[in-house]
Amino acid sequence: MFKLTAKALACALSLSIAGMAQAAEPIVIKFSHVVAENTPKGQGALLFKKLAEERLPGQVKVEVYANSSLFGDGKEMEALLLGDVQLIAPSLAKFEQYTKQLQVFDLPFLFDNIAAVDRFQQSAAGQGLLKSMESKNITGLAYWHNGMKQLSANKALYEPKDARGLKFRVQASAVLEEQFKAVRANPRKMSFAEVYQGLQTGVVNGAENPWSNIYSQKMHEVQKFITESDHGVLDYMLITNTTFWNGLPADVRSELEKINVEVAAEVNKQADALNQAAKQSIVDAKTSEIIQLTPEQRGKWRDAMKPVWKKFEADIGADLIKAAEASNQQ
Ligand code: LMR
Repeated sequence: MFKLTAKALACALSLSIAGMAQAAEPIVIKFSHVVAENTPKGQGALLFKKLAEERLPGQVKVEVYANSSLFGDGKEMEALLLGDVQLIAPSLAKFEQYTKQLQVFDLPFLFDNIAAVDRFQQSAAGQGLLKSMESKNITGLAYWHNGMKQLSANKALYEPKDARGLKFRVQASAVLEEQFKAVRANPRKMSFAEVYQGLQTGVVNGAENPWSNIYSQKMHEVQKFITESDHGVLDYMLITNTTFWNGLPADVRSELEKINVEVAAEVNKQADALNQAAKQSIVDAKTSEIIQLTPEQRGKWRDAMKPVWKKFEADIGADLIKAAEASNQQ
């Protein structure tokens, strides 16, 4: 009969202790993003790390990589699908390869303000979009606000005709390309990490960003004019790899889900204040003239850009556009 020697027993024991130690290793969640820490998304990622590590001590370790330091916006989605990163929060403009429905957020002059965006995101239609990419192994966990976009350039932009012939950096979005073509400007897709240099060297002459992105990337130092146009929104979807998320131990996943609700509420509460503070810092820096549009001037931008909606209606769905538009009514 097989008898365990003292040596074999010791060996078996040490193997099982090693196994236990291995099982006790924390789950590492890499959170990669492209913006600075002093922005709504940068703060959201840090708050997620803090709460996850406080409430799941030893079970979860969160590594946050800001400023495209791990993956730039061209690569982060691919990295998520390959399992090289577990959480990202791309701008809603960056999903068109995975679903056309999210293009609704890029339509110019669709939302009157961020409160309307919020109402739409929290509606049944908005919440449904979080699940619209599960067949591609992408699960949406929450919406995070950044804010409304402002136009910037080295030329004063009062009316659409002022933008004619200028080169504008756009995110990887067909809607945003069409938006600039509608005012006879030239859109150039460019990753976020390259925008400052692109503006500095004149590869592009202008851009569209919320105040927090303009200030934290120092774009105001290379843009003489910023028009407070509020012509569109730049918000995010916090996403994960569906297989990874569903494979988490149930108790860990449910705690992380609670944390996600809290983090989204906090990001969305703070985003406007962060943008207003960034705007004030730009005013104080005196690098750029901030242009306020009259209602008539803003109407001209709207009239010029709104035909873009029609071009994307079939892809997005007329009902979804209607639901988004309805969110302007309280
Ligand atoms: C951009 O590329 O302009 C934005 O998506 C960057 C960001 O994540 O806010």
